[in-house]
Amino acid sequence: MINIGVIGCGKIAQVRHLPEYASHPSVRISGVCDAEKGRAVEVAERYHTKAYASYEDMLTDENVDAVSICTANHSHCEITLKALEAGKHVLCEKPMAVTYAECKEMVETAKRTGRFLMIGHNQRLAKAHIKAKELVEKGEIGRIITFKSTFGHSGPENWAVDKNNIWFFNKSAASFGAMADLGVHKTDLIQFLLSDRIKEVLAVTGTLDKKDNQGNAIGVDDNAICIYKLESGIIGNINVSWSYYGEEDNSTILYGTKGCMRIYDNPDYSIVIEKGNGQKTLYAIDKIQTNDRQDNSGVIDCWVSCLENKIPPEISGEEAFYTMKAVFAALESARTGHIISVDGLEV
Ligand SMILES: NC(=O)c1ccc[n+]([C@@H]2O[C@H](COP(=O)([O-])OP(=O)(O)OC[C@H]3O[C@@H](n4cnc5c(N)ncnc54)[C@H](O)[C@@H]3O)[C@@H](O)[C@H]2O)c1
Repeated sequence: MINIGVIGCGKIAQVRHLPEYASHPSVRISGVCDAEKGRAVEVAERYHTKAYASYEDMLTDENVDAVSICTANHSHCEITLKALEAGKHVLCEKPMAVTYAECKEMVETAKRTGRFLMIGHNQRLAKAHIKAKELVEKGEIGRIITFKSTFGHSGPENWAVDKNNIWFFNKSAASFGAMADLGVHKTDLIQFLLSDRIKEVLAVTGTLDKKDNQGNAIGVDDNAICIYKLESGIIGNINVSWSYYGEEDNSTILYGTKGCMRIYDNPDYSIVIEKGNGQKTLYAIDKIQTNDRQDNSGVIDCWVSCLENKIPPEISGEEAFYTMKAVFAALESARTGHIISVDGLEV
């Protein structure tokens, strides 16, 4: 049995981490904690476990093998470092952390303490994305030339556990807006699908629609468009938005020398391949998770398998750091109006 503690009992803990741990035969949920004591107690009762007084209290429990960190972005680094130092393996939600230096320290601390650090980049684990990568590698649409990847929904206020206090809109708690909240998923996904790394970025971000409780524009971006140039020379763009007030868009389209691959772009088929000669191949694999429809993400199965088999996670801190560097480069590009080289990013 792997003994797990869950830090933060908000939305992602309630719709993903806790139910997926609870249904895993090799896991015992040792306990939960939350800065809002009442929330921790309520969730603990639901999962027949204990509510620790704080995450520090949880980390002193020798029975806890590993923790999930499901708190607001600004606290990811601090809690991860303390958990690793306390000897726990850590699954931390995305975005990994809020500065380059924090991400670096998380990677170094995991290495030094010999503990696993995995980041919750669930898009890599979506079944159609796994299949799409396989098809790309087989050369199904030839050499990839360009791509479009989109992640847009109506905003975190329609997701949040506490609808009167949307920390996602508060710069000091979230640090980032839509670019890092949603863009981090697509930035990671593109590197995964194409087995490539982002080399240069040109991005524009804007706060176009969201208002805080006082009616002022929020302190972070709610829309972003970025152009990525990959090491191999592929160029493509990522569009992210918290103001797509219709259906959520979570699609990725890859264009190759032999045709195009549409992933999660069709309500009935998770992958559609269109060849230059008019031939179409349809794959009905699964439906992408949306804010309203959460099914097994695969994140907890993957994490527990690493812990059980003592195999370091592929979606490690080191791997996520590549994604975060591209996100930091995009934000720097939006700030300066210049193309930013990911390697040349100032730390
Ligand atoms: N992988 C994904 O698809 C995905 C989706 C949504 C959210 N997330 C990420 O998950 C994290 C949490 O987001 P959420 O939507 O669940 O937010 P949320 O506000 O619903 O939940 C956060 C919880 O953490 C608690 N908390 C804050 N500081 C704490 C501390 N120091 N100790 C204990 N508890 C603390 C809060 O009281 C709250 O209950 C964010 O980083 C977010 O980006 C990931």
